[in-house]
Amino acid sequence: MNRNDFEILNNNLIYLDNGATTLKPKVVVNSINNYLTKYSANAHRGDYDISFKVDTLYEGARDTVKEFLNASRREEIVFTSGATASINMIVDGYFKNTLKKGDEVLITKVEHASNVLPWFRLSKELGIVVKYIELDSNNEVTIDNLKKSITPNTKVISLAHITNTLGDIRPIKEITKLAHENNILVVVDGAQSVPHIKIDVKDLDIDFLAFSAHKMLATTGLGILYGKYDLLNNLKPTFLGGGMNESFDDVDKVFLKELPTRLEAGTQSIEAVLSLDAAIKYINSIGIDNITKHEQDLKEYAINKLKSIPHIKLYNKNTTSGIILFNVEGIFSQDVAYYLNKYNICIRAGNHCAKLLKDVINTNQTCRASLYLYNTHEEIDKLVELLSDKERILKEMI
Ligand code: ALA
Repeated sequence: MNRNDFEILNNNLIYLDNGATTLKPKVVVNSINNYLTKYSANAHRGDYDISFKVDTLYEGARDTVKEFLNASRREEIVFTSGATASINMIVDGYFKNTLKKGDEVLITKVEHASNVLPWFRLSKELGIVVKYIELDSNNEVTIDNLKKSITPNTKVISLAHITNTLGDIRPIKEITKLAHENNILVVVDGAQSVPHIKIDVKDLDIDFLAFSAHKMLATTGLGILYGKYDLLNNLKPTFLGGGMNESFDDVDKVFLKELPTRLEAGTQSIEAVLSLDAAIKYINSIGIDNITKHEQDLKEYAINKLKSIPHIKLYNKNTTSGIILFNVEGIFSQDVAYYLNKYNICIRAGNHCAKLLKDVINTNQTCRASLYLYNTHEEIDKLVELLSDKERILKEMI
C-alpha cells in the first residue's frame, strides 16, 4: 500500500478517525473528477453517448459490489444514501409490513443509533418488543447468551457485525445459523465490517446487510442495501418517484419496476457510485485480508503500549478489529481530542452515536482511535508518546 495514494497524508496528518469516515485515494478522486468533467449525465434516462457511458459505469459498479460481497445476484445490491438509509428502508419497507404486535427484535446496548432508533419507532407503531441480548464479561455477544434471549416470539436479530465503539466482531455465521433454525431473520449493520474484513453474504447467510461507501475510501452520500432476493423483492419502497416506476395512470394503476431499480427512486449520487467502484477495486488490489491483518497488527501494537500507561483506561483491549476505545483518567474525552488535534492527530470523542453503551461501560464519554490501511506503527508511537504524559495533556489541552 502506497501512502502517496492519499494526497491528504502529505501534510503529516495522523488520521485515526476511520470509524467516522475514511480518506480518499487518488483513484477515487479521479473517478469523481472524470464523471464531473467528462460525462456528467444522468443514469438510465438519456439516449446519447455520455448517458450510455454512465449507465454502463453505474451498473458496472453494482457488479463490483456484488462480486465483493459474493452476492448471488446483482439485483440484490441496492444503492441508497447511506447505511442509515439502508437500515431504515429495511425496517420500514420490510419489517413494518411483516411483524405484528408482540413480535420480538433482538439488538444489544452496543448498537449505533441507526440500528436502535428505527426499531424503537417500529415498537411505538406496531407494538413489537425490542429486547437486548445479554453481553458476556467482555461485553460481547455469545451464542449461549443469544440462545437464552430467543423466545417463540423472536422474529429478528439486528446487530452490527463490528461495533463502532468496542470494535468486537460478532460471530455472524453462527448467529445466522441459530437464527434460521428458529425462523428468525438477521439484519447486519456492516458499516464497520465491510471496509475491514472479508464479507461473503452467502457463506455468512446474511438476510439483510447495510453499509456505507464513505467508510471504505469512497465518497459520502452512498450506502448499500443488500438483501436476499426473495426478501428484497418483498421490501416496499420507502421512496416513490422517477426511475423506479414502469407506468402510472391513476391511483390504482401504478406499476413499479423490478429490483433493484424499484428501490432507487430519483437520481442517485452517481459520482458516489462510481467512486465506490474505484474504491473497491483499490481495496481488491491490496487485498481485504491484508488490510485486516495490517489493522490487527497495529491494534495489538497500540494496545500493548497503551496498556502499560497507568492513566489510560482501555475499554476493549481484547477485541481484534482496528478500533481502540479509551479514556485518559480524569480528563474529559473531548479535551483529549483537542489536545491531540494540536499535533495533527484526529480521533473521535464522545458517545459515538451509541447512546445505550453507557449502561455497559458506565461512561458516555470516551476517546476512539480507529485504524485503516494507511495507518503506521510510527503514527501509533506518536499517539502513545502524546498520551503517556498526563501533566502535558493537562497543561496543553486548553
Ligand atoms: N457512525 C460513524 C462513527 O461511528 C459516524 O463515527
